[in-house]
Parts: sequence; structure tokens; C-alpha cells
Amino acid sequence: MRPSTFLHRVLPWLVILSFLYWLNYYFTLPSPPQYPLPAQSLIDLAKPVPHNCTNTSVIPSHDSITCTVDDVASLSCLKSDQEVYFPFSFLKKHLDVSGKVKDGHFEWHTSYAKMRLPEKTYNSSGLFGHFATYSVETRERVKCINPLTGVPMSTQWSVTPYYYPIQIAQYGLEHYSRLLSQGEESRSVVVGTNSKEWRGAPGSLDETSERIFFVDDMEKKAVNLSTKDDISNPGVYVSFSSDPDLSTVSFSYKSHSPNSSFSILLTVKETDQLVVLHYVPREDDRCVWNEETNKMVDNQATFFYSFPYQWGEWVEITRDVMVDAARALSTMKGKGRTKKESNVILRAGDISIHSISFRGHLTIRQEIIQSRNEHEKAFLHAADWFVANQDSSGGWPVGVERKVADGRLSLPSGWYSAMGQGHALSLLTRAYEKKREERYLQTAEKALKPFGKMASEGGVRNLFFSHPWFEEYPTTPGTFVLNGFMYSLIGLYDYAQLEKKSPPSSFSSSFSTASSLFQEGLSSLRALLPLYDTGSGSMYDLRHVALNTPPNLARWDYHAVHVYLLKWLVAITGDEGLNQVADRWIDYANGKRAKHN
Ligand SMILES: *[C@@H]1O[C@H](CO)[C@@H](O)[C@H](O)[C@H]1NC(C)=O
Ligand SMILES: *[C@@H]1O[C@H](CO)[C@@H](O)[C@H](O)[C@H]1NC(C)=O
Ligand SMILES: *[C@@H]1O[C@H](CO)[C@@H](O)[C@H](O)[C@H]1NC(C)=O
Ligand SMILES: *[C@@H]1O[C@H](CO)[C@@H](O)[C@H](O)[C@H]1NC(C)=O
Ligand SMILES: *[C@@H]1O[C@H](CO)[C@@H](O)[C@H](O)[C@H]1NC(C)=O
Repeated sequence: MRPSTFLHRVLPWLVILSFLYWLNYYFTLPSPPQYPLPAQSLIDLAKPVPHNCTNTSVIPSHDSITCTVDDVASLSCLKSDQEVYFPFSFLKKHLDVSGKVKDGHFEWHTSYAKMRLPEKTYNSSGLFGHFATYSVETRERVKCINPLTGVPMSTQWSVTPYYYPIQIAQYGLEHYSRLLSQGEESRSVVVGTNSKEWRGAPGSLDETSERIFFVDDMEKKAVNLSTKDDISNPGVYVSFSSDPDLSTVSFSYKSHSPNSSFSILLTVKETDQLVVLHYVPREDDRCVWNEETNKMVDNQATFFYSFPYQWGEWVEITRDVMVDAARALSTMKGKGRTKKESNVILRAGDISIHSISFRGHLTIRQEIIQSRNEHEKAFLHAADWFVANQDSSGGWPVGVERKVADGRLSLPSGWYSAMGQGHALSLLTRAYEKKREERYLQTAEKALKPFGKMASEGGVRNLFFSHPWFEEYPTTPGTFVLNGFMYSLIGLYDYAQLEKKSPPSSFSSSFSTASSLFQEGLSSLRALLPLYDTGSGSMYDLRHVALNTPPNLARWDYHAVHVYLLKWLVAITGDEGLNQVADRWIDYANGKRAKHN
């Protein structure tokens, strides 16, 4: 039989068989699902599929089938007698969900962000939310912890690092919360107390170098050093303890010449890279930089930190060398690498610090403390930055332009943020509780002023119809960002609570101002919160109302922040209405949706 004859005979049968199959398929397949499916029915569909994939007898045999989606997309799916299977990569994108294989089964999550909840009761001088788990200093947009001020500088919206009040306050609140939850690490080592420890590098301690050891007016041991001040001179150095966990260095010194500097030598253990950090008395708006080739030479790199301090004054230095090394290494951007890819994160134990060296003419206290961390100092540096940098309107102007809503709105350099003002209040409240110094109250009192002023007049207040709103980005018209507004309410509440801690009576009226601003904001929140509820998630802001743009939905991690902040305000106020919204929003993150008509 010739092949063509065979085909001739068999083909009609094939056609009939496939027609029968199609008939069977047509009548057994449930009516085509509506797309996108409500999440609940997706969960139901998923149920019959067993988790244990080693039981092959329950995996139905399947064929390929082309699926079309809303007549706009076409993709290949699988089909069994009972069911059609879509590729998860498609569902993930189409439904904005996430999922992965974990411990032998597949986990589907509507929200990729974990829903955290605050404690049931809130203490306005205690932990600030879950900020103890924050790590502001490892964010890729943090250029450095400025050696002069001890607070982070940002490069989020400008290549030149600048002070961003929200980030500084978060850094302070992070360290305060860590101080409370972990305590200050008591383990520390003091080096340099013995005069024998102050050594010159071989061949460099020339005739001009002097080391005079004495006891100063404060009855403290000190050393006068005098060496050439150019950076190529290794200077006089002290070796550190080799305990890898003790990478924070604190000491006091006074320079008697404008070019005195100090340097820290360390190795990154994993790569065996040798890193030198020079802290030089130079004004440089890069904050930290690498002068040579922007790459490792012989697995060594040298970096400079700008430290233009007023010589002739005693200065207390505290450097977390692990953070300084990571920020320095992050400046070495490889070709084509994003900021995120270049971001180097070092963890406790990742580096060994070897020595600190000094050059120029200086007096140094013979007490160089090596510790694990200095949370209290970091927290107070942040609080003191707010005291020192407030302007006459009570705000902390952001020195870069901020474009909002795809450039349709813009805040010229010098704007304030209600979130920054609020975070500052939360931080200053805690600093006052800790130190009982009135300057923290004075600063906080002034920080209330922008809350009473309209955005169009340089304040942070906008009206949504007649409801006042404190703006994270005080544009005109307003954008009504939800999370920044709620953070500002927490700040107002924190400050108002100080009234109960017997502060000087001259501040009484500022506590009632803060309290009424809080109440005013809370009424707006109650009135406007329904507008942020999409029935399956939440809105980041209400720009679509002011600008007539498409709505700006909150991505899942912001949705999680909304839930956290609502529950936080529920802990403060006991408001059942807010609590119900928060619970409903948690359900959205678990795939539930509001009913439709
Ligand atoms: C799957 O089921 C088989 C048979 O009951 C069992 O031996 C196996 O451990 C199971 N595997 C998993 C990952 O649960
Ligand atoms: C496999 O699944 C079938 C149908 O659910 C069940 O009857 C059978 O016991 C399972 N076998 C094993 C080894 O788990
Ligand atoms: C609030 O927190 C502070 C700081 O930890 C603590 O001293 C105070 O006792 C706490 N107050 C209450 C009521 O828990
Ligand atoms: C240390 O140096 C300072 C500044 O030059 C000087 O005033 C002081 O007398 C010196 N102290 C000693 C003990 O040499
Ligand atoms: C400090 O260093 C700069 C640059 O290296 C130099 O121009 C200047 O003369 C130095 N000043 C002193 C007082 O040595």
C-alpha cells in the first residue's frame, strides 16, 4: 500500500474522531470563565490540585491549547478533560499577584508584601512602629553618613547628596527603636591607652614627628602628635582589636592645623580587599569619593570622606566603619550597573578593621573606643540635626526640586513635607524624653507652624473639599498622599502626649495646638478614607481628582504600610470605623474583594 492511499483511508476517521472529541470537550467544559476572575474563584479552582506532585495518578493527562484573553492576548495553555491551565507567569502579570514553589508546593500570594501589624497599645516615647528593623544606612539612595553631622545624605532626586529630613528622622527613629529593643551592646574595647600603642609606620616617622604623652586639664590621658600632614604620610597609628564585631570607632580630638586628618584601614573579608578611608578636612559635595580610577587596584581601594570641621575645637567622632566602608564601596559604579546593583551591603563580621592613623598637628584623648554599635549617638545626631537646621518658618526645607505626578506638578527646591515635620516631632519627642533638654521642645513647638499654613503659602496644609489634609508633597493643587498624612498624625500625637510628662508650663499651648491638629486630621481621615478604598486594594493618593489623571493605586508594599498605619491609629484612638477598614484591607491582600452588584 502506498502511503498516500493509507492516508486517504485513515483521514476521514481522524476527522470524525476529532469531531467527537471536540463534542465531548465542548459539553464537559464549564462555561468559559469571566476574566479577570474574582480571586475567590481562582482559589476554588486551585483546590482540587493536590500539593503532593509525586502522586502522578492525580495529574490528568493534558494537551496544549491556545488561550485568548479578552481578545487582546493569545498564549498557549494546557487542557485536560476537566480543566484549562494557564501559565503562572501570565497570571502573575495580568492579576498583579506573586507566587513561587516552596518546599515542594506552589504558594500563590495576592500581595507580595507581608502584612505586619503594630502592637495593640502604643507608647509615644517607646518603639516607633517596626523601625528597629529598618536599615536606612544600607539603602542605595543613601550616599554617606556625613562625618560632620553624623546623619545620612540622600541622592534620591539629585546626584549631589543632600539632607532629606524624612530620611534623617527615620535614621534617628531606627536607632532609637534599636536602642530600646536590643539595648546598647555593652561589649567594647578601649585601645590607645598605652603610649606604646602609638606607633609610626616603618620609615615614615621622620624627624618632624613628635608624640608627647600627658594628662590634660580634665585629668584625662592625651597625646600631642605632630607629623607631616600630606595624605601620603602614613602618620602615627594605633592598631585595633581584632574582634570582628567591634567595627564602630569613637574618639575625641582637637586639631591645631587646618590640614590634619585621620584614616582607617580595613579589609573586606570575603574578597580580601584592602580599603583605606581618609577623613580629610576638605569641603566636597560628593561626601565620599574615590580619587584614582574608580576601581580596585591590586585589590586595594582608597576613599575620601569630606570632613570640613572647625579646627581648634574639640570634636567627638563616632564612625560605624562597616557602614562607611559599604557606602564608599557603593560609589564604585561598574559600567551599566544601576545604583541598586552597585549598592554594597556589609553585615556584622564582614570586615576587619586594622588601624587608625593620624597626621598633622593634633591632641587626641588616649581612649579610642571600639564597639559594636552606638545607637544612642546615632539617634541624638539625628535629633540634633533637626535642632540645628530648622528655619524661621519652623520647617526643614528640602534643597532639591521634587516633581510629582509625572512632572505635572513640581515643588521648587525649599519645600517642606508634612511627613518630615511629623517624623521630626516623633523624633524630638523621644529625644526630650531621653535627655530632658528644652531645646528639643522648642524645636518641636516651632515645627507645628507649617501645619497651620496652606501649601500655596509655603505650609503643608491643603483642603480636599472642606477637609484639611497635611501633605507629604504640598503641591497646589494637592495630591493627598495617604501614608505621609498618617505619619504626620502620629508625630502630632506623639508631641501632644508630652503634656503628661510634666514639661515646662510654657509649652502647654503648643501641646493643645498639636492635639487639635491631630483631631482635625483624624476627622479628615474618617471622612476621606472611603475614597482610598478601591474594593480590592487602596489608593496611594487622590491625584486623579485634582489632576483628572488615571487613579494612582498603591502597590502592595504601600498597601501594607496603609494597613500598618491604620492599625497604629486604631491603637491610639480605639476607632472602630478605622479598624473595620484596616481589616477589610487586610482581606484584600489575601485575595478577597468587595462584592459587586
Ligand atoms: C507524597 O506522597 C508520597 C506517598 O504518599 C510520600 O511518600 C511523599 O513523601 C509525599 N511527598 C511530599 C513532598 O509530601
Ligand atoms: C493518589 O491520588 C488518588 C486520587 O486522589 C488516591 O486515590 C491515591 O490514594 C493517591 N495515592 C497516593 C500514593 O497517595
Ligand atoms: C514607654 O516607653 C518608655 C521608653 O521605653 C518607657 O520608659 C515607659 O515606661 C513606657 N511607658 C509605658 C506606659 O509603657
Ligand atoms: C599640646 O599641643 C597644644 C597645641 O599645640 C599645646 O597648646 C599644648 O601645650 C601641648 N601640650 C603638651 C603637654 O605638649
Ligand atoms: C593644606 O593643604 C592644601 C592642599 O593640599 C594646601 O594648599 C595648603 O597650603 C595647606 N595648608 C597648610 C596650612 O598647610
